Amino acid sequence: MARTTLGIVMNGVTGRMGYRQHLVRSILALREQGGLQLADGRVLWPEPVLVGRNADKLEALATRHGLEHFTTDLSAALADPANQIYFDAQLTPLREAAVQQAIAAGKHIYVEKPTASSLAGALELARSADAAGVKHGVVQDKLFLPGLLKLKRLVDAGFFGRILSVRGEFGYWVFEGDWQSAQRPSWNYRSADGGGIVLDMFPHWQYVLEHIIAPVRSVYAQIATHIPERWDELGKPYQATADDAAYGVFELDGGIVAQINSSWAVRVHREELVEFQIDGTHGSAVAGLRECRFQSRAGTPKPVWNPDIPNTEPFRAQWQQVPDNGEFDNGFKLQWERFLQYVADERPDAAFAHDLWAGAKGVQLAELGLASAAEGRRIAVPELGRGA
Ligand SMILES: NC(=O)c1ccc[n+]([C@@H]2O[C@H](COP(=O)([O-])OP(=O)(O)OC[C@H]3O[C@@H](n4cnc5c(N)ncnc54)[C@H](O)[C@@H]3O)[C@@H](O)[C@H]2O)c1
Repeated sequence: MARTTLGIVMNGVTGRMGYRQHLVRSILALREQGGLQLADGRVLWPEPVLVGRNADKLEALATRHGLEHFTTDLSAALADPANQIYFDAQLTPLREAAVQQAIAAGKHIYVEKPTASSLAGALELARSADAAGVKHGVVQDKLFLPGLLKLKRLVDAGFFGRILSVRGEFGYWVFEGDWQSAQRPSWNYRSADGGGIVLDMFPHWQYVLEHIIAPVRSVYAQIATHIPERWDELGKPYQATADDAAYGVFELDGGIVAQINSSWAVRVHREELVEFQIDGTHGSAVAGLRECRFQSRAGTPKPVWNPDIPNTEPFRAQWQQVPDNGEFDNGFKLQWERFLQYVADERPDAAFAHDLWAGAKGVQLAELGLASAAEGRRIAVPELGRGA
């Protein structure tokens, strides 16, 4: 069987996302399964080229995983015609310049969200990539999570009737870093380094809402920096300048109201780290990362408000699980497979829904969310066409 090798320049692979989800769970997992089988019979073999700032760390990674290629010289990696894709999971503020460099070198682009630090920058990336005729994509991994795939199954089946509202709860306690080390990088809490929960999470909420429920038409957000002082990776105290919680209200097409709380200063009293509840006229569902429970109109109890007697309804037990009905692969890997198939697709009308234009919508929602919080008002979300 014909094996086509595809060089992928992977920048930021020493980071949390770049290493675990993209290198190990996606690209190396694809190699372990013998490459990616394409519809035309070819097998695509991804060949990662690890790029970063620290040669020793890169060499250690390459050795650990039996990889041949690593470098601290991005330009050299981009100059090699064997490398056809540039992937970026660096610190957010570094992304735009590196991606523009890769576009100029004629590489296809696949990047983590947010695609840029501002809407203007995100649109410029999409325009440049189109003008250069390269293919492009943005990570929208949450769409490929088992829990959200099950939620989408319910939506597609018409289970909800008319959807009324969505409520989302995301977050967990991120340790301050003094008496217990923080489980997220310190740049997340500094605005100047691209931190902040709005810039981190609103891009996710934008595509989750649009793809599973309906597009977002307006945003109102209240933000906070609940923990003003934290301790970094070296144990040094620093001022947290970025928002660590955001309380958002989004109006969707069809008058659907979505409320999503995002916080790194909340303790978990939920089944999973993120949960979305949809209520509709004919049924409701609550989805997490892996599970999704539903309650139909016919199975809805009739509670009566009476604080004088103990609760008699086992509310949580009244929901049913959506069955798996199949195996779920890692969400990041599933999306890599789709992007690689798109790159290998030679038809002129081949398209990829999760491109840099789609990525720009996520940055737009974050930017408008921050503006809403600063101005204390609801802000309409203008339609962003392709080529905007
Ligand atoms: N899709 C998701 O669910 C998801 C989750 C978390 C983060 N992300 C995105 O992935 C990107 C990386 O986030 P992360 O949590 O992996 O961060 P991280 O701090 O763990 O990794 C950052 C990477 O950038 C590199 N880097 C280059 N210059 C740097 C500098 N001056 N300072 C610090 N690091 C530098 C680091 O070496 C490392 O490889 C961000 O853009 C973030 O928004 C996406």
